[in-house]
Amino acid sequence: MYAEELKTYYPLHYCPVDVDRRVLPLLFPELLLFVSPSPLCCSSWWGGVQMGPPDPILGVSEAFKRDTSPKKMNLGVGAYRDDHGKPFVLDCVRKAEALIASKQLDKEYLAIGGLGDFTKSCAQLALGADSEVLKSGRNITVQTISGTGSLCIGANFLSRFHSASRDVYLPKPSWGNHTPIFRDAGMQLKAYRYYDPSTCGFDFNGALDDISKMPEKSVIMLHACAHNPTGVDPKPEQWKEIADLVKKRDLLVFFDMAYQGFASGDIDRDAWAVRHFIEQGHKIVLSQSFAKNMGLYGERVGGFTVVCNDAEEAKRVESQLKILIRPMYSNPPMNGARIAATILNTPDLYKIWLEEVHGMANRIIKMREQLAANLKNEGSTLDWQHVIDQIGMFCFTGLKPEQVERLTKEFSVYMTKDGRISMAGVTSSNVGYLAHGIHAVTK
Ligand SMILES: Cc1ncc(COP(=O)(O)O)c(C=O)c1O
Repeated sequence: MYAEELKTYYPLHYCPVDVDRRVLPLLFPELLLFVSPSPLCCSSWWGGVQMGPPDPILGVSEAFKRDTSPKKMNLGVGAYRDDHGKPFVLDCVRKAEALIASKQLDKEYLAIGGLGDFTKSCAQLALGADSEVLKSGRNITVQTISGTGSLCIGANFLSRFHSASRDVYLPKPSWGNHTPIFRDAGMQLKAYRYYDPSTCGFDFNGALDDISKMPEKSVIMLHACAHNPTGVDPKPEQWKEIADLVKKRDLLVFFDMAYQGFASGDIDRDAWAVRHFIEQGHKIVLSQSFAKNMGLYGERVGGFTVVCNDAEEAKRVESQLKILIRPMYSNPPMNGARIAATILNTPDLYKIWLEEVHGMANRIIKMREQLAANLKNEGSTLDWQHVIDQIGMFCFTGLKPEQVERLTKEFSVYMTKDGRISMAGVTSSNVGYLAHGIHAVTK
């Protein structure tokens, strides 16, 4: 009876008296018969979900936004800026966009593996136009959602098909996202020595020693160039020794190439390690990103390649990659892939792109030299040669966490706690101020 009255006179979302809604069913058990659970049931499906920690890099950007200092610098995020500190859209990208718009193309779904014009030229960019692998058709390359998506497809492919070992060895340190990507795919994370804090350089002997002890068939992650976060790359002679040892240990090589062209300014030079390993007979897997070298960050353009024994094996691997991708996102987005493919396949645009990649890399190299020179002018007696020797977007300064904290508090210079700075955020007009701040916290 109460239930009937309440149902008649009071809409379900309206509570007639000022009482806790949870007690209503106790007062009027009939309510349970017809009331939908949402208004009266205050327990939540997600009550047990714990608050997670913020992303370390995005946390830096948030703190930077709140800072009102006119001199503030955000050196946390790894995105290229021009010499005025502004985001940079490449001229070849603008021209490719105009060309694509003029063609009035349709917006039909791409194939599961992506845009053919893109995947072909993506593999060619990494492996080289004369690559025997490409000529014999023993690779499969699929379009991915930038470098992260490529790593994710790769990690899941290994998890499903590399039954010989679950172990993935990452350089110590490595890009922060490598760990969750491989862990979430069900692989076991291990590490090998890479960075030597005493020299701010490559721990070549430590790396060789650790590689020599890796169980056969393990997976080793190698950054093809411009290692993130350290900016420390092996030299060609060192790569050669690594390739030999990796072969002896029968390890599966996973190359992450997120910065081709960005390290030296030369796309072929930056792909040298990848091509050398392949020439030595390694059947690598490879992740590529066009975020940095074409400035297509938000377009999410990348590729994942598996180098196989022969074309028949490549076909079988392709079929399984499609089966993996289909339930994840069905097929990749087309806009960025069209832009990249247009640049890579239009000689005039390709030429402009090579010049622009070179220009971006050169600006960063110049900033490294200016930072070291300004530190000397400030009177720093410390050795800053590693700032010049390291390569690519990032510089592992060697600053300790308490020095990083002071730099942020006293100079509004924002970076990750490990002392990594994005050289892409340094400009001709703020490099002096940065050197002044670094000297103040390190003297
Ligand atoms: C080493 C490395 N791999 C992969 C990526 C993937 O980047 P994206 O997903 O933006 O292409 C990055 C980006 O910072 C990186 O530094």
